[in-house]
Amino acid sequence: MTTDPADQASHRQRLFGRRRGRPLRAGRAALFDSLLPRIVISMPAHGRLDPAALFDPPLKDIWLEIGFGGGEHLAEVAATHPDVGLIGCEFFVDGVASMLRHVDEGGLGNIRIFQEDARELLGALPDACLGRAYLLHPDPWPKRRHAGRRFVQPESLSELARLIRPGGELRIATDDPVYLEWTLRHMAGNTTFTWLAQSADDWRVRPADWPQTRYERKALKAGRRCTYLRYLRP
Ligand SMILES: C[S@@+](CC[C@H](N)C(=O)[O-])C[C@H]1O[C@@H](n2cnc3c(N)ncnc32)[C@H](O)[C@@H]1O
Repeated sequence: MTTDPADQASHRQRLFGRRRGRPLRAGRAALFDSLLPRIVISMPAHGRLDPAALFDPPLKDIWLEIGFGGGEHLAEVAATHPDVGLIGCEFFVDGVASMLRHVDEGGLGNIRIFQEDARELLGALPDACLGRAYLLHPDPWPKRRHAGRRFVQPESLSELARLIRPGGELRIATDDPVYLEWTLRHMAGNTTFTWLAQSADDWRVRPADWPQTRYERKALKAGRRCTYLRYLRP
C-alpha cells in the first residue's frame, strides 16, 4: 500500500465504503474524548502487539470481532463472557460511536477497539493468541471485479489460522449468496479449518450463544436468508 496518508485514506474508502456518516450527536462525540482513549488499541512502534497486556487484570481468553458495525454482537458477547477479553475492529466512525455507547451504558470493561483495517491488526498479533474470531456480514462486494476487496481471501484465512489457537473457532455469517459461495469455496481450500456443520440446521439456524447483529436483523426483515458458519481450528 502507498505511504501517502491521502492515498491510504482513499484506499480504505474503497475497501470499506463510508468511513464517516452524519455528524455525531454531542453525547456520542463526547465518548470519543472520555472513553475511547482508555480502550483504543494502538499499534506498537515495532514488534508484535501483546493482546493479553491490553486487559488488566489479565483475562482467561481473547476473542476478536472483525467489522463489528453497531457493536450489538460484541457488546452482548462481552456481557455474557466477562472473563474473556474482546477485541473489536471497525473502520466506520458511526459504528465506533455506537460501540462506545454500548461499553459506557453496559459498563463493559472487557472490550478494546481497533479503529483501522482489521488486516493491520492481524499482522501485528502473535501466533495462537485468540480463542475465537468473528466475521459477521462483512461487506460482500458482490461484483466479480470487486472480489479482491472481500475480506475472505487465502491470505486473511491463513492469518486467522495462525492466530486462532488449536481448539478455537472461527464464525462467519452472511446473507449474500455470492459471498456465501465465495466463503465456502475459500474455507474448503484452506487446509487448517474444519467446518463443524453436521446437518443443514447447523448453518441455517443461528446458535443460541450467537447474538443477532443489527445487519442480520435488517436482512431477515427484508426477507433475505442468513447463513451461520462455524469452523474449528483443530
Ligand atoms: C455490512 S457491515 C456489518 C456490521 C456488523 N458485523 C453486523 O452484522 O451488523 C460490515 C462492517 O464491517 C466493517 N469492515 C469491513 N471490513 C473491515 C476491515 N477490514 N476492518 C475493519 N472493519 C471492517 C465495515 O466498516 C462495516 O461496518
